[in-house]
Amino acid sequence: MDVNLRVQRYDPAGDRKPYYEEYLLTGQPEGVTVLDALIEVRENVDETLGMRCSCRSSICGSCAMRINGQATLACKTRVSSVAQPDGSVTVEPMGNMPVLKDLVVDFEIFWNKINDIGPWLKTEGPVPEREYIVDNEKMLNLIGTVGCIMCGACVSDCTVLAADPDFLGPAALAKAYRFVGDPRDAHREERLADYVKDGGIWDCTHCYYCVEVCPKGVAPMEWILELRREAEAAGHTNHNGVRHSKVFAESVKEAGWLDEAKLAMESMGSLKEKLSLVPVGLRSLLHGKMPPTGPLHYKRPGADHVKRIFEELEAKE
Ligand code: SF4
Ligand code: SF4
Ligand code: FES
Repeated sequence: MDVNLRVQRYDPAGDRKPYYEEYLLTGQPEGVTVLDALIEVRENVDETLGMRCSCRSSICGSCAMRINGQATLACKTRVSSVAQPDGSVTVEPMGNMPVLKDLVVDFEIFWNKINDIGPWLKTEGPVPEREYIVDNEKMLNLIGTVGCIMCGACVSDCTVLAADPDFLGPAALAKAYRFVGDPRDAHREERLADYVKDGGIWDCTHCYYCVEVCPKGVAPMEWILELRREAEAAGHTNHNGVRHSKVFAESVKEAGWLDEAKLAMESMGSLKEKLSLVPVGLRSLLHGKMPPTGPLHYKRPGADHVKRIFEELEAKE
C-alpha cells in the first residue's frame, strides 16, 4: 500500500514557523503502523525528522503524538485505520507541552504534575520484616490506575489544561487515586485535602477526552470522579465544585431540567463570589445568553418521571 504522511515540522531554534511536510511512501505492507512509516521516513527519506520511540509495542509510551488531530500511540495505529479518503495521514506533536523538535515534546510539565501529587507510598509505623500484606480485593481496585504507561496522550488533549496550565491534569490525578486507594498509604487525608484545592479534582469539566484518547484504558476521568467521592466522604464539602454538583442534580431532580441561574448562584460559597457573578449575568443578558425562563424555573412535563429515576438510584445507593 501507499502511505501519504503529512507531518508537522518545527524547530524552535530555527526561524521558520511550524509547517507541514509530505512524505509519500510506496509499496508498504498492509499492516504498516504510523510509527513504522515514520521510521521508514527517518531512515530512508529524511534523517532530520525529530521523533521519539522505543518499544514499538504500546508499552513504553514514548511514541505518543497526534494522528489526525487526536493524541495516540503511533506504534498502535495502523495507517489503514486512519488514512483519509485521499490516503493522507496527518501527524503532529502532542498538545499542552512545548515542542522541542518536530514530533518531540518537552515532558517537564507532565512530570512536574506527577511529582505534585506525591507519587510514592507514604507509610508509617514499623516496616514489616518481609512484605506488607494487603487484601487482594483492595489492590484489585487499583489495577485500572496502574496500567498507565505515562505516554502523555491524556495531558495532550485535556481541554481544561489547554485553558489552565495550573490544573493537575488527568494523568497525575489518576496516579493520585493509586495512592489514595492503597490501604498501605498512611497519608490519605492529607492527600485528599491537597487534591481538592484549586487546580485539583474539581477543575475537571468531564469532557471525556482523556478517557477517549488513553491507549491503555486507564480512563483518568473515572478516577477523578472517584477522588471526588472519597473527598466528599472525608468531609471536604465546603467547595464550589461540591455545591455545583449537588445543585445540578437537585434542580434536574425537582424540575426535570437544569436551573442555570440557580446553579451559578448556589455553587458560590460566599456573598463576594455571588456578587462577582453580577457582571457575568449582565453580559449574558446583553448577548442573549440568559436562560429562556430567566429566574422563573418551571417544572417540565414528565419531570415526575425524572424524579422517580433519581429516587430509584438513591434507593440503590
Ligand atoms: S475529563 Fe477532565 S481531566 Fe479528562 S480531559 Fe476532560 S477536563 Fe481533562
Ligand atoms: S492515563 Fe493513559 S493517556 Fe494518560 S499518560 Fe497514562 S496511559 Fe497515557
Ligand atoms: S514505541 Fe513504545 S509505546 Fe510506541
